[in-house]
Amino acid sequence: MGNEQAKARIAGVFAAAAPSYDQSGVPFFAVFAKALVDTLAPAPDWHVVDVGSGRGAVVFALAPHLPTGRITAIDLAAPMVQALRADLEARGVTGVDVQVGDVEALNFDDGSADAVTASMVLFFLPDLDGGLRQIRRVLKPGGVLAFSVFAGPDPAWIPVYDAFVPYLPAPVRSGDLSRPSHQDLSSPDDIRQVVEAAGFSGVEVSEVNHDIRFESVEQWHAWSWSIGLRGVWAGMDEPVREQARAAVLDEVQRLAQADGSIVERFAVRYVRALAAS
Ligand SMILES: C[S@@+](CC[C@H](N)C(=O)[O-])C[C@H]1O[C@@H](n2cnc3c(N)ncnc32)[C@H](O)[C@@H]1O
Repeated sequence: MGNEQAKARIAGVFAAAAPSYDQSGVPFFAVFAKALVDTLAPAPDWHVVDVGSGRGAVVFALAPHLPTGRITAIDLAAPMVQALRADLEARGVTGVDVQVGDVEALNFDDGSADAVTASMVLFFLPDLDGGLRQIRRVLKPGGVLAFSVFAGPDPAWIPVYDAFVPYLPAPVRSGDLSRPSHQDLSSPDDIRQVVEAAGFSGVEVSEVNHDIRFESVEQWHAWSWSIGLRGVWAGMDEPVREQARAAVLDEVQRLAQADGSIVERFAVRYVRALAAS
């Protein structure tokens, strides 16, 4: 698959997901966004560009930290942009500019941002090096890039994600469904290498385990439709989906505690780097 085709596929998945994206009521992207904002440690007057903003987990976490600053949020999927604009209005958050945009072709002047944030986005880039160089270009010298990526699957949950595999239209390797990943972001050393090669210095990588709690198997199922995994469910014909649902939820049920709740551990890497001058 070529880069443009890969990007069109990603845009299509998130366009379809936008109306229900991150709306299950389970605190998920907001958890990672808060940790990312802590990693960034913004000054109150910064201009921050949030790339791949989705339904605004980072935007909502950042806004209170920028009383005299501003945020520009961009996303590849137009329906995500429309939904975020509506969310901002509904929550009374002003001073955020939301635009359709591509990390690999940023529509900003050189050196125009104090910081760029990217929460759970960069592993989707077909041209990761190109995207990082774009981010480097729009940052002021010494400006901060802060991003997060998954550090790997929760071993206890591999049987859950593997239970999808027999029902998928195309084969997928064991474990691949559990978390989006990118080969150049798969270890702290890989991360340092690709980020430094794109013109950053002072790269810091930290890792945090977040235990995400679901009240029930049904809540996990509803949540799985509110994230990128939605594309996997939606890609199956209904009779196949019904079989997959039974097999997958059976595995989730095995992980339930006595009160019916279930915990999935998300290991996340947070990266902070400075645009080299
Ligand atoms: C997993 S979601 C994360 C959304 C948000 N950052 C959050 O933490 O909730 C990834 C988002 O990145 C967007 N995206 C993927 N590739 C992109 C690109 N090349 N340029 C801009 N946005 C992109 C998707 O449309 C999607 O909304």
